[in-house]
Amino acid sequence: MKKLLCAAALVGMSSLASAQQVNVICSVQADWCNMIATVYARTTGVKINLALKGSGEALAQLIAEKDNPKTDVWFGGTGDPHLQAAESGLTLEYKSPTLSQLYPWAQQQAQQSGFKTVGIYSGPLGFGYNTELLKKKKLAVPQSWADLLKPEYKGDIQVANPASSGTAYTMIATLVQLMGEEKAFDYLKGLHKNVGQYTRSGTGPIKAVARGETAVSISFVHDAPQERMQGFPVETVTPAEGTGAEIGSMSIVKGARNLAEAKKFYEWALTPQAQTFGAAAKQFQLPSNKGTVVDANVPDFKKIKMINYDYAKYGASAERRRLIARWEKDVNSLPR
Ligand code: G6P
Repeated sequence: MKKLLCAAALVGMSSLASAQQVNVICSVQADWCNMIATVYARTTGVKINLALKGSGEALAQLIAEKDNPKTDVWFGGTGDPHLQAAESGLTLEYKSPTLSQLYPWAQQQAQQSGFKTVGIYSGPLGFGYNTELLKKKKLAVPQSWADLLKPEYKGDIQVANPASSGTAYTMIATLVQLMGEEKAFDYLKGLHKNVGQYTRSGTGPIKAVARGETAVSISFVHDAPQERMQGFPVETVTPAEGTGAEIGSMSIVKGARNLAEAKKFYEWALTPQAQTFGAAAKQFQLPSNKGTVVDANVPDFKKIKMINYDYAKYGASAERRRLIARWEKDVNSLPR
C-alpha cells in the first residue's frame, strides 16, 4: 500500500512538473518571443522554454526530433515550412474553437494543412534601403525587381539564404509565381551578382541596411519600423511588378510531451490580447485575429500590388525542397 501511494505521489509529481512548462520553437524576432514567454509565465505560472530558430532551421529541428520530439509548439515563422511539416506528419491536427475569429487567409492556412497549422500573422515582402547610404553612393531607390539587377547595386544588396530563412524562400516562390520558373532562376542568377552576402536569418539583411553595412535588402516590410524607431535611416518600398506575402504560422508538434499545456498556449496565442504583444515588441505583422487592434505601423496591403500566392503549392514538401536545392545548385554555387 505504502509503495502504491509512493508511486502515485511520484506520478502526480511528474505530471505536475511536466504540466507547468511548454517547449516552444519561436521563429519571430527575439523581442517578441521573450515578451510572450515572460507575460505567459507571469499570468499562468507556466514556464515557456524558448528555442529561437529561423523558419527553415525550425523545420530541420522538427525533422531531427521526429522520433523523440522535444518541442511542443512551433510559434511563428513563414507558413511554407509549417505546411511542409504538416505534410510530413510532424505536426498535430488540432481544430481550434477560435478559428472562426481569424481572417480568411489564416483559416485557409489551417484548412490547407488538414488543421495541422494555423495563420497567426501576415506580412508583405519588399525592399529595405538606407536613405543616407543611397544618397552618399548616388544610388536611386530601387522600385522594382528589375531594378535590383542594375550593375550599380553590385555588392550592395543583401538577402537571406533560403535553406535557413523562410523570408528568402518566400522571395524565390514569389519570383517563380511572377515570372515562371526558368525566368525566375535567370533572375536569381543575375541578382546573385549583386548580392554582397546571404545571411542565415531573414532579418539579417534589414539590420545590415539599418547599420549602413549594405544599401538595400530584400525583407519583409514589417521588419523596418523597429529599426526606424531605433533611429536608423531605413525606408521600404514594394516592387512595381508585384510581391508575395507570408502567412506566419503556428503548429503543435505531433507527440508533444506537454500536449495539454501546448494547446492552452496555442489558444492563448490566437486571442486578440496575446496578438497585441507583437506590436508591443515592435513587430508589425498583420495579426490573424480579426479582433486584434491593428497598429498604425502595420503595412497596408491595399496599397501594395500583391500576387495571388499559392500557399498550398509552394508549401508542399517536394516543391519547397526542389526549389531550394535548385537555388543551391544553379545560383549559390556560381562565383560572384
Ligand atoms: C522575421 C519576421 C517574421 C518572419 C521571420 C522569418 O522575424 O518578422 O515575420 O516570419 O522573420 O524568419 P526567417 O529567418 O525564417 O526568414
